[in-house]
Parts: sequence; C-alpha cells; structure tokens
Amino acid sequence: MLLYVHIPFCDSKCFYCSFNSYVEKHHLKVAYINSLLKQLDFELKRFEVKKKSIESVFIGGGTPSTLDALYYENFFKKIEPYLKENVEITVEANPNSAKQEWLTNMRNFGVNRISFGVQSFDNKKLKFLGRSHNSKQAINAVENAYRCGFENISIDIIYETALDTEKLLKKDIDTAFRLPINHISAYALTLEENTPFFGKKEVKKDDEYIGYFIADMIKEKFEQYEISNFGNYKSKHNLGYWQHRDYIGVGCSAVGFLKNRRFYVCNDIEEYIKEPLKISIENLSNEDLISEKIFLGFRSIVGVDIKILNENMLKRAEILKNENKIYEKQNRLYNKNFFLADEIALYLIG
Ligand SMILES: C[S@@+](CC[C@H](N)C(=O)[O-])C[C@H]1O[C@@H](n2cnc3c(N)ncnc32)[C@H](O)[C@@H]1O
Ligand code: SF4
Repeated sequence: MLLYVHIPFCDSKCFYCSFNSYVEKHHLKVAYINSLLKQLDFELKRFEVKKKSIESVFIGGGTPSTLDALYYENFFKKIEPYLKENVEITVEANPNSAKQEWLTNMRNFGVNRISFGVQSFDNKKLKFLGRSHNSKQAINAVENAYRCGFENISIDIIYETALDTEKLLKKDIDTAFRLPINHISAYALTLEENTPFFGKKEVKKDDEYIGYFIADMIKEKFEQYEISNFGNYKSKHNLGYWQHRDYIGVGCSAVGFLKNRRFYVCNDIEEYIKEPLKISIENLSNEDLISEKIFLGFRSIVGVDIKILNENMLKRAEILKNENKIYEKQNRLYNKNFFLADEIALYLIG
C-alpha cells in the first residue's frame, strides 16, 4: 500500500505551476492538518490497511517545507503502526524553506527521502520561472539535507524553457552531479491553464531533441526508469504508481486508487477543511484499467503483462516487436524509448 499526502501551501507561486496550492492561506494550516487526520482515519478503514503494510509515504504539494515540522507530529504518530519496516518516506521541499532544523526534525520523524524542487542552477532561469530561491540556496539545501542524514536525495529539473541551451543544461546537470544526490526528475516545461505562462508560446523552446539531450547526460550516471525519472535509487512510490498499485490519497485535491475505483478529494481548501470526507468516486471499467496499465507500463521499466492484452493487441504487439520498438522478456513487453511511450501505447490499444 502507498500513501500520498497533499500539502497545499506555497510561499510564492511559480509562473508555470498549476498544482493545487495557496500562498495566502497559511492561517488555515492547523485546521487543514486536523481535517487531513480525519480523512486519514477514514481512508485507513476504507482501504482496510493492516498494521505494518504501508510501503511508501509521499508528502507532496504545494510545498511541504512551508509547514513547520511540528505540524507533522500527529500525522507520523497516527501512521507509525501501519508502516512496513523498510518504508520509504519522501517529502518534497523547496530550497528556500527547508532549513537545517526542519530537515533534522523531519529526519527524526522517519522521513528518509527528500525531493527538492530545484528546477535549475542558473539564476536567470530561476527568475524566469518565478522561483523564490537562487542557485546557491539550492546547492546549500541539498548539502544540508545530506549532512542531516538524508541518503536519498532527489532534485527536480525543468527543461525546454526558452532560456535553455545545451551549455546551460550541461551546467545544470554537471552541478547536479557534484551534489550528494541519487535521483533526478527532469520535466519538460508544460504551459498549464490558469498559470502566467499559459498561452505564452515564447516561454517554451519546442525542441524534442532537448529531451534526448538532457536524458543522455543524466543517463551517464543514473538509470532512466521512467520518461522523467532517473536514479541509482528508484523510488518505491514512483514505481508503485506505474505498477498500478493501490494508493491512498489524503489532503485537498489528492487522488486515491483501490482495485477499480478512483477517489477524488475536493480541490478547495476551505471546503476540504469543513468536509474532508466529501470525496467523489470514479468507477473504472476493465478497458480503462487495461489501457492505464499499458500507458504506465510503457512509460517506465515496469513494462506490460502480456496476459492483459486481447487478440488484436497481441497482433499489434508482434508488429511493434518486428519494428524493434518493443521487446518481450518473461511474458512482459518493454519499451525501448520512453519518449515514444504514448505513441506506442496508443497504437497497441488501437
Ligand atoms: C509539486 S511540485 C514541487 C515541490 C515544491 N513545491 C517545489 O516547487 O520545489 C513538483 C514538480 O513538478 C514540476 N512541475 C510543476 N509544474 C510544471 C510544469 N508546468 N512543467 C514542468 N514541470 C512542472 C516541477 O519540477 C516541480 O518541482
Ligand atoms: S512549483 Fe512548487 S513552489 Fe512553485 S508553485 Fe508549484 S508547488 Fe509551489
């Protein structure tokens, strides 16, 4: 079982980001955590979570490091009996708010993996993206986390911005590799609705070659285990999503998944605080589940179980194999080029 926790607070809003987060509702933090704990109780029952069965907890956002470590105390107390012995506990953090004391306290709660939203080590690019930290702060944050005992440190990088050149990206990755990290998530900039970047084509460099360029550089040290994810250490949480495992989602806008149902928590923080159990349910058909497994499997090293494919899909799989686009190993199909995953999945589904 996996558990996702959403923390919808940020110190400032980056120009590209449409994640559910608020910059002016910090006064709601106490009420928010109380509601989140209520929902957590409910979900632990709904998912029939057994003691020592949660393999991964991911606290994401928003910016979890905008919340003082104290806010997490009751959460960790509540989940402690449910955690498996070698559970992965990840927290997302921004370089400007993840201070030494916060890092130490989170480490003491059992958090053993940290994912920093770095985006770039170039100060001009950071400003361009609307980030509230500079390159030096990002480097210090990673080094501090390592000193505080975090062995699993990941950084997020954004590419395909208008400012990106081979030289800039090479410097970003070279800087990253000098730091004590074992994972990089590299995302192509997307222009999301309801963000200052939406509709501004000039902020994005539309050049699919950049994706291959950055992936090849990162692959010199880390294995690519999904389109955007690279590491010596592969996150259990990420892999769990791509393996189509059940996951609990708590907090406003969180999503959960159990067998053939998907749960959507309401997006609005005030509404969530009032009614944390107002959750809508989507029932997924067998076809929905199969196509999700195909999309997720081809985007990552997880691959696709041949048993879920119908006759027509199997015929198309043969064609893809003959074209050398996918290969078969122990009754699973694997994709050779994650950047082509969606195309391959669409073709196979028909
Ligand atoms: C929830 S956010 C990160 C956590 C933390 N608030 C931070 O920014 O440091 C997760 C990551 O998604 C990526 N991201 C968000 N919006 C994006 C977009 N429009 N295009 C590409 N990547 C995006 C960023 O790399 C970001 O670090
Ligand atoms: S990228 Fe992170 S810090 Fe920036 S607005 Fe999104 S969640 Fe907040």
